[in-house]
Amino acid sequence: MDTAMTSAYGPWGIVAGGSDGVGAAFAHEMAARGLNVVLVARRVAVLEAFAEELRAKHGVEVRAVTLDLSAPGAVAELASVTSDIEIGLFVYNAGGDDFSTPFLDKDLDTHLRLIHRNCDSVLEAAYRFGGPMVARGRGGMVIVTSGAAWVGGATLATYGATKAFDLVLAEALWAEWRSRGVDVLGLVLGKTDTPSMRRVFDAKGEPYGDAADPDDVAREALDHLADGPTWIFGSAEPTGGSPFGAMPRRDAVLAMSRASSASTSHADDAATAPGTDQSD
Ligand SMILES: NC(=O)c1ccc[n+]([C@@H]2O[C@H](COP(=O)([O-])OP(=O)(O)OC[C@H]3O[C@@H](n4cnc5c(N)ncnc54)[C@H](OP(=O)(O)O)[C@@H]3O)[C@@H](O)[C@H]2O)c1
Repeated sequence: MDTAMTSAYGPWGIVAGGSDGVGAAFAHEMAARGLNVVLVARRVAVLEAFAEELRAKHGVEVRAVTLDLSAPGAVAELASVTSDIEIGLFVYNAGGDDFSTPFLDKDLDTHLRLIHRNCDSVLEAAYRFGGPMVARGRGGMVIVTSGAAWVGGATLATYGATKAFDLVLAEALWAEWRSRGVDVLGLVLGKTDTPSMRRVFDAKGEPYGDAADPDDVAREALDHLADGPTWIFGSAEPTGGSPFGAMPRRDAVLAMSRASSASTSHADDAATAPGTDQSD
């Protein structure tokens, strides 16, 4: 057992969006390091099966909580059903967008639900779970964001805007809580091989191409939890700035838009723009 992990961030961690992909990899890595884990997702069968797998493999306690994070009240309910345990680490992972389309081609409610899951619920989780960590003087929070956060791009309007919100929120909380014993990491991902990513590429009949391994992502993020505010997975300079550097914003937006329309299949393809050093 990794006693450093349990004493800094134990005894329980939560993974919001923790039944497959990057979230499942986080849960495995946290359990392997001795944390008990609360998993949150919508599909009951997938969630329960994964919870059982974690218990069997790592011998830790696992709670499976079925919630839709795009619905109002979900994070309050999560706080209520975990009020009897101490949460020392919160990973807010759920956040992908399966449909990268022009802004007006999506109905308004779909945009608003994405914003609720990727912004309102992230903020509420930081408030409800970060508050007790700050009061204890101990804890950690990982907010998973995307290369789509760096700059606006066609077909990425709402997704990129929510991911920019997540990036800035994580950085600001890092600045406030770094002297209070709580580590915050804004984790920037490029294309990563998850069921969500594969569903999108399969639907378009496009090859997956190079994609990061979720296990590598989770391991590296937990190893660098205290190296915030920002960790850019796959970058030669993971603590460095935007890959667009000093490029005029107009040029950066056009570059991001070219990247997103070259592969219309997945929002996060657009994280690769000329001059980036990310994996996608
Ligand atoms: N994969 C990539 O290429 C890529 C690239 C850049 C950034 N990212 C970021 O990495 C994170 C993880 O991405 P991912 O590809 O693993 O897919 P994801 O769809 O963001 O996450 C999948 C997990 O989240 C759960 N989930 C999704 N929506 C939920 C909701 N409304 N309420 C509760 N749980 C929900 C899923 O279970 P249920 O479906 O059962 O709810 C599953 O456990 C996201 O924040 C994404 O923006 C991913």
